[in-house]
Formats: sequence, structure tokens, C-alpha cells
Amino acid sequence: MTPLNAPVRKSSIVRKGAASPTAEAYDNAFQDKPRIGTVVSVTGSHALVMLEQDRTGEDRAQRPQLGAIMSIDAGPSVVLGLVSAMSVPAPSQDNPSAAMRIVEVELIGEFSKPTINAPARFRRGVSSFPTLGDTVHVATRDELTALFAINGVSSVRIGVVKQDAHIPATVNVDEVFSRHCAILGTTGAGKSCAVALLLRSVLGRFPNAHIVVLDPHNEYSRSFDDRAVVFDPTSFTLPYWMLTFDELVEVLYPGRAGYSEEIEILADLVPAAKKMNLTGASRAGIARDMTAITVDTPTPYRISELLSLIDKALGGLDSSRHTAPYKRLRNRIYTISQDARYAFMFGGLTVQDNLKEILGELFRIPVHDKPVSVIELGGLPSEVVQVVVSVVSRLAFEFSLWSNGAAPIALVCEDAHRYAPADQNEGFGPTRRSLVRIAKEGRKVGVSLWVVSQRPTELDPTILSQCNTIFAMRLANQADQEALRAAVPDASTSLLSCLPSLGMGEAIAVGEGVPMPTRIRFDALDRDAVPRSITASFTDGWSVDVEDDGFVDRIVEQWRAQRMLLPEIE
Ligand SMILES: Nc1ncnc2c1ncn2[C@@H]1O[C@H](COP(=O)(O)OP(=O)(O)O)[C@@H](O)[C@H]1O
Ligand SMILES: [Mg+2]
Repeated sequence: MTPLNAPVRKSSIVRKGAASPTAEAYDNAFQDKPRIGTVVSVTGSHALVMLEQDRTGEDRAQRPQLGAIMSIDAGPSVVLGLVSAMSVPAPSQDNPSAAMRIVEVELIGEFSKPTINAPARFRRGVSSFPTLGDTVHVATRDELTALFAINGVSSVRIGVVKQDAHIPATVNVDEVFSRHCAILGTTGAGKSCAVALLLRSVLGRFPNAHIVVLDPHNEYSRSFDDRAVVFDPTSFTLPYWMLTFDELVEVLYPGRAGYSEEIEILADLVPAAKKMNLTGASRAGIARDMTAITVDTPTPYRISELLSLIDKALGGLDSSRHTAPYKRLRNRIYTISQDARYAFMFGGLTVQDNLKEILGELFRIPVHDKPVSVIELGGLPSEVVQVVVSVVSRLAFEFSLWSNGAAPIALVCEDAHRYAPADQNEGFGPTRRSLVRIAKEGRKVGVSLWVVSQRPTELDPTILSQCNTIFAMRLANQADQEALRAAVPDASTSLLSCLPSLGMGEAIAVGEGVPMPTRIRFDALDRDAVPRSITASFTDGWSVDVEDDGFVDRIVEQWRAQRMLLPEIE
């Protein structure tokens, strides 16, 4: 046998699941007597374990796997670690069974040993390090059960631990919401199902939640049984007067460049229009402090009043050089307010101060047995979607700020890379700012952000780095894996090596919301609750001819009348 101090040759370390077992073998692994080895090296949070004499005869599924949880008996405590690599440092052809086998383990946390008065408790971090010669085994079922049962009160089940399918995988609800959460993976990996499942588990325990799901693919409407209110572009209103000046400018002049004169005029006239409207209200007996009205104050005003203010200003100007920006602004405001796509914003017949009703409906306060708002954004043009995401996320933040977090709100943002892209020049400024603000400060005021994305590279890294719980699902793209690696704690990066080979509905769960970084499999969602997106079916569409002669006529008519032809959901 090779001497113990033989250098460990890095080249032979298996970093990927080179011989990954079948799913069943994985499930059955470790259920029998755990395998024993001893600690032969400890460096910081990293330990090398030499496995005991070879047992090549045994079932390969019984050997430690990448990502498996190992436990090391370290005297007063049991240290838990993750298998990050394995190797035979000095392979021998003559006597392969005698070759030394080394398992690398990242130390993650420890169990205090139970006493008569105190049960075993798990904590992250290692206070008493293992020493050379300590015995090691694959974590037993009892240990795993104790690990995932931590904080039983506020933990909910979401699936099973891949290492032992008998152990329920749990998340800590407070941690997963208060410090934000990211669900990342290729399209089809099961992200939307994971979101639905996680939220359903949480709702089962906390029926008075306040959850807003921004649903760009119109897929969640049936995922929460009758516990969700579904808003679509026809039932949804977000009056223009709720917009901040920034948002209003982005609606009128996306990108802003070249419109500084118009924007300046608007900045003068909007507060004036707001004050005009308030005067009416105060006549009715509501006294308000007029000086507090700024361009951003969410108080109602009339578009007609804004337009007449522009007209009045125009009346006092003579040279066409001065009147041009006023005319252009007037035109732009008029066009947008008539645009059917913005009907949810400008469509109200009367202008009334319904901020209270809108906030209550949107954030489910009071809950009325429907703790979830699903906002369907599919079928809306992307710039309109950006405005909605911006306004909803800002309202969530501001509402929580002014209510001091009395009714914590969770905001689920699908396709988050579209609203907060990594490239600062892309996307819609106010939307990014609003999401970044929630990511950075939401914890203090009680707003939680859940970001769902298939392109972690394209997602603003500030947001990703603020997500303290990450469910990484199958992810094949190398750059995306790198982005993820940068966002998770070092000790769990080794687990990410199996990202490309994860099965559907499987995830690497890391961060504060889970007791330990682990590979889990989400529970199966009820058939009826599976989020279903509407994608045009080419095979269906191309199987039959459109026989109706008037078909194109109708489309053109709807187009001109600016009435949306929303896709039917079967
Ligand atoms: N936990 C689960 N329970 C039931 N079905 C699932 C689950 N995870 C994934 N699926 C299946 O995988 C398909 C794709 O999942 P989905 O969540 O839409 O993927 P993504 O959102 O990542 O594109 C679903 O339509 C469903 O059939
Ligand atoms: Mg999806």
C-alpha cells in the first residue's frame, strides 16, 4: 500500500460524476450500514478521508458519492461535511484493491452530541475541528432526519433529500422569505413547478400570507386552487397617477435620450395638475398639506387637466421654437393615453383616489382566503410589462416601508433577468432600481423577493448576491454555472458540479433557508396545479387550414381598433 504521506495527485481527483449511478441506485445508496474511513488531513474547512480497506465486492451504490453528507466523529461533536471530490492518488495495476482511496470533504457544520437534557442540535460552522484518525461514516438516516427537522415550527416540507429518499427536505420559511430566494435552471428544469410547490407548502401552514406572483407566461392561474386572485390586463388597473415621475417618463419616452425639454416641462406641470385636483378634494372637506405634493406623490390628477395646462402654457408662447416641445409633449401624452395597451393605466373613466382599494386588492389585505395575487402579463408588450413590474414592486416596497413591515409581502418575479438585466444599459431603469432596492433593503421593511430565471449570467449580480437561499436546478450553460458559483458560499461550490446532470424537479439547495447544502428532489405537484405556459403549437396550427375567409379581416380590424387578441388558454 502507498504510504500515507504520498502526495495527493490532483489530476486523478474525480470532480464530476464520472460514474454517476442510476437514480434508483442513488436513492438506495447509504441506506445500509454506512461506510467507515478515517481523517488523514485537515486544512481549514477541508478534510481528507482515507476509506478503509477496499470493498470492491460491494455494490457500487454503497460507496460515498459526490455531494453526499458525511459525518465525522470529532469528540464533543459530530462534524458534517459534503463530499466534494474523490480519488485514488496512486493507482496500482498490480493490486487495485489495495490502493488507497481518498475522499475530500468540505466541513459545513456540526451536531452537538445529545445529552439527557438536550437533544442533538445542528449549527453551521465548525467549533471543534476533526483531528487525524477521527472516524468517518456516511451520515445515517437518524442524523439526516435530525438535520432536516431543525426549526420544526417554521419549517415546511418541499421534497426529499436525494441521498436518502426517506428523509423529507425542509426549508425554513422565515429565512427563505426574509433573505430572498432565487430559483435558477434551464427552461423545462422545473422552476415554475418548484415555485408553485414551495408557495403551496408555505400556504398550507401560513394561510394569511401576502404573495404577489408576476406571471409573464400566464401559467400560475391554476396553481393555487382557489387561494389566488388572478388579474389579467382587462381586470387589472394601475392608474397613471400612481407612477413616479421616473416611471411616467419611461412610459412616455423610453430611454429618455433626446427629450430633455419635454421632460422638464412635464416635471413642472405634473405637480401643478396634482394640486389642481387636490383643491377640488379639499373643497369637499379634506384638508391636505399642499406643500408636500411633489412630482412623485401618488395623488390623482386628470390627464385632461395636464393637457389643458400645456395648452395654457402654449397660449403664452409665440415663437415656434418655444412651442415645439410643448406640442410634442401634448401629442405624446395624448397618444399614450389612447393606446389600448395602456388601458389598464389610462383607461379609467373617472379619476378617483382608489389607492387604498388597489393596494388592498393587490397585496391581499385583508386576505379573504386568497393570499396570492397572480398578475398575468402574457400577451402584453414587453415595455408595458416592464412598467407593471416596476410599479408593483415599488408599491410593495413603499407599502411595507410605511406600514413598518406589519404585513410582510413576497414578490415572485419570473424571468427576472428581463427586469433586472446584468447589462446596465438594457431593461427599464425604474424596474431595475425598484427590484434592486427590494433585494438590498427589503429585509428591513418586510418585502421578500423571489427571482426565477433561466439565465443567471444575464441577471443583475447585485440581486443574485442578495438571494440567501438558492435552488439551482439543471443548468447546462457553462457561463450560467459560473455566475451561480460566484453567488453561492465556497463550501457548496463542489455540489454545483452536478448541475448539468440534475434530473427534472431536482435541485441543489444552498443557503440560509436550508440546514445544509444538499441535493434535493421536489415533491410532485398535483397534476392540476402544474403551471402550464401557453406556447403556440406549430403542429396544431399547421395541421388544419384556417378556413374562415374573414379571419385576416378580423385581425386587421382588431389591430386598427387596438383591441387585444389575447391567446386563449385551453
Ligand atoms: N415538482 C414537479 N411536479 C410535477 N411535475 C413537474 C415537477 N417539476 C417539473 N415537472 C414537469 O416538468 C415540466 C416543466 O416544468 P416547469 O416548472 O414548467 O419548468 P421551467 O419553469 O423550469 O421551464 C412541467 O410541465 C411538469 O410536467
Ligand atoms: Mg417556467
